[in-house]
Amino acid sequence: MAKKKTVVDFMRMKKEGKQVTWVTAYDYPMASFAEQAGIDMILVGDSLGMVVLGYSGTNPVTMEDCISHCKAVRRGAPNTWIVGDMPFMSYQISDEDAVANAGRFIKEAEVDCVKLEGGVRVASRIKAIADAGILVIGHIGLTPQSSGQLGGFKAQGRDVKNARLLIEDALAVQEAGAYALLVEAVPPEVTRFIQKKLDIPVYSIGAGPADGQLIICGDMLGLFQAFTPKFVKKYANIAEITINAFKQYAEEVRNGEFPTDEHVYHILDPIEEFEKMFKEFE
Ligand code: KIV
Repeated sequence: MAKKKTVVDFMRMKKEGKQVTWVTAYDYPMASFAEQAGIDMILVGDSLGMVVLGYSGTNPVTMEDCISHCKAVRRGAPNTWIVGDMPFMSYQISDEDAVANAGRFIKEAEVDCVKLEGGVRVASRIKAIADAGILVIGHIGLTPQSSGQLGGFKAQGRDVKNARLLIEDALAVQEAGAYALLVEAVPPEVTRFIQKKLDIPVYSIGAGPADGQLIICGDMLGLFQAFTPKFVKKYANIAEITINAFKQYAEEVRNGEFPTDEHVYHILDPIEEFEKMFKEFE
């Protein structure tokens, strides 16, 4: 089994130009599969609201949801770097709230670091969390928790004015003490500039090449059926495999093909003795 990576490894990987692989997972089996596949980092994203809890967005997700799913993921991937995603309203109100909630991720769910959305406007939150000794990742570009303000799940930084704001956000995140930055749904030209400008690792989800890539497991595995963002590559179609398996099972139960002799436990005494015992109940 590969040794669990540390922040020092991630810094070294950036320097050496080695790509970091990062996926989301929300439960024990998916986390275990990611670890077995040698994935470097797991994000327990608040996307769990859409991918596993069936909400239409991420904002209903609570701290309790996140902590519970982070704990399951930690049990499934004890040797993988795990990022806890701070849900809506767990850091927006005050620096104190942000530190207390970030601390819960570390103490209760034993994740390695936390991630929160925003740039300039959350710089004081990032600083407060980092000053408390907690590793934190910034997240700019398409930030789902504020997608209402962005006019929906839309790519960001496509014009010069908006790209300038993104660069200011990226600089603010680094300056505040984040150890890494995630850029979502941004043109590669802008991501490349941010990656060159920052000393900390810059990871991408739908933002072209960077120091590493993140992808949502529900999207890449074909588990999430509501929509698929343009930037997703589907590596499997688990929904189709699962629906077909359920259909086949139902058909076999209905027509008596399942269970067969190989799926039952066999008696240990002669059948005659069982029949004698059954008679006693008649
Ligand atoms: O919750 C999540 O999975 C995320 C990604 C969209 C970056 O924050």
